[in-house]
Amino acid sequence: MGILSQLSITHLLWTATVICQHEDYDFGDEYDEELDHEHPYYFNFHPSTQDGVPHFPFPVECARECFCPPAFPLSMYCDHRKLTTIPNIPAHVQQLYLQNNEIETVLAGPFTNVTILREINLNYNKIKFHMIDPGVFAKLSNLVQLHLQHNELEEFPFPLPSSLERLLLGYNKISRLSGNTLQGLSNITMLDLCNNLLDDSALQEKQFSTLKNLMQINLCNNRLQTMPPDLPPSLMYLSLENNSISYIPENYFSRLPKLIALRMSHNNLQNMPLNAFNLPSLSELNLGHNKLKQVFYIPRSLQYLYIEDNDIETINITLMCPSIDPMNIKQLTYIRVDQNKLTVPISTYAFFCFPHIRTIYYGEQKVNKSTQLRRPVFRRFLTPEEYEAAEDDHETNDHETEEDHEPQENYFHAYFK
Ligand SMILES: *[C@@H]1O[C@H](CO)[C@@H](O)[C@H](O)[C@H]1NC(C)=O
Ligand SMILES: *[C@@H]1O[C@H](CO)[C@@H](O)[C@H](O)[C@H]1NC(C)=O
Ligand SMILES: *[C@@H]1O[C@H](CO)[C@@H](O)[C@H](O)[C@H]1NC(C)=O
Ligand SMILES: *[C@@H]1O[C@H](CO)[C@@H](O)[C@H](O)[C@H]1NC(C)=O
Ligand SMILES: *[C@@H]1O[C@H](CO)[C@@H](O)[C@H](O)[C@H]1NC(C)=O
Repeated sequence: MGILSQLSITHLLWTATVICQHEDYDFGDEYDEELDHEHPYYFNFHPSTQDGVPHFPFPVECARECFCPPAFPLSMYCDHRKLTTIPNIPAHVQQLYLQNNEIETVLAGPFTNVTILREINLNYNKIKFHMIDPGVFAKLSNLVQLHLQHNELEEFPFPLPSSLERLLLGYNKISRLSGNTLQGLSNITMLDLCNNLLDDSALQEKQFSTLKNLMQINLCNNRLQTMPPDLPPSLMYLSLENNSISYIPENYFSRLPKLIALRMSHNNLQNMPLNAFNLPSLSELNLGHNKLKQVFYIPRSLQYLYIEDNDIETINITLMCPSIDPMNIKQLTYIRVDQNKLTVPISTYAFFCFPHIRTIYYGEQKVNKSTQLRRPVFRRFLTPEEYEAAEDDHETNDHETEEDHEPQENYFHAYFK
């Protein structure tokens, strides 16, 4: 595949990611919500012999208040109905939609007959921690996904079943993760706690290290002043935007070798250990809107670097790239550096170090008008070799270079609005 089409695909994926972020905080496609399109085994289970229209093997029960579409008999839709309590859930229900209601309590009663329930969406309700019957969720031994975003939880809703894989708790008022709240949640891969009231003391007790399969944790828009301790080495996506973190301890990331994306914009970062991000898989690093004065070592795998709105006066390429290894070319393709204090463009030596660089976004700098950089965006055009590779690819055309950049502009637009 040619360089150009690879890039287009990357850009498309990124644009898609960004759109997701507006709905639910989400790092990428693999974490897309399954609620809407997972309608599993029924169709192969008892295929109808009559007219191709499948029939459920027993009469489909449905709560009076809800809707159970014949085409998706394992799902019960009770969303947007001004419900104040959870209706009785029939035994065969696997996906339960209760979002956008006025539910305040989660009682055990309606769950009495539940056996195979896998996913519950309770987003946009008014649930408080002490209004949840103790153990009501823990009993659901097939539950893999639980959405409780936009509720009034003041505490983590424990206990939870060990089958749980994705737990979304954003937009609550959680300030505590008491005791061994997270113990036993060994199958959790994604935990969203953005937009809560968590501070450093809430994360003190080695909570996260028990989550052996955790791939993504979102802690954005909380009140953390230091990096969360004891994150498990399985972690790939870490979101810490908009806290008050002022430093990253030396070697902090050496315990997180699988990290792919780190988002720490809108914190108080000042001095970075030069080698803080020497990670083998890191691809996206967002440190925008901090107080950085200096750049740091760029690992080989990094593709996207955001350091806009900091206090950087010069970009010292020697620090970013102390040596060039032609056998191990650095992957950096995009840098965003607007709203710093740059008065000269990045040294052209950068293009030897980072031969894949395509765009440097200088935007406006926080300096006097007379010292503004002349070109807000640097775009590198293709080398003859790259052009040839592109020509070989059937999907490319002469206008590719321009089109190619479009989605990236959109990305910034959407992401930073
Ligand atoms: C559970 O099933 C029994 C037997 O079908 C039924 O009588 C009862 O109402 C059900 N309870 C709930 C909470 O759905
Ligand atoms: C955890 O996940 C594994 C692998 O998917 C599965 O075999 C196991 O049953 C799950 N544990 C629970 C308690 O569901
Ligand atoms: C940061 O979080 C605070 C609340 O904690 C919120 O009011 C503010 O809008 C957030 N800022 C950004 C840039 O997201
Ligand atoms: C860049 O950093 C290197 C290593 O610390 C230093 O020796 C050099 O003087 C710096 N260059 C500039 C232009 O500041
Ligand atoms: C910017 O302009 C102000 C007032 O004109 C001047 O005092 C200041 O020294 C200038 N700063 C720089 C970095 O040139």
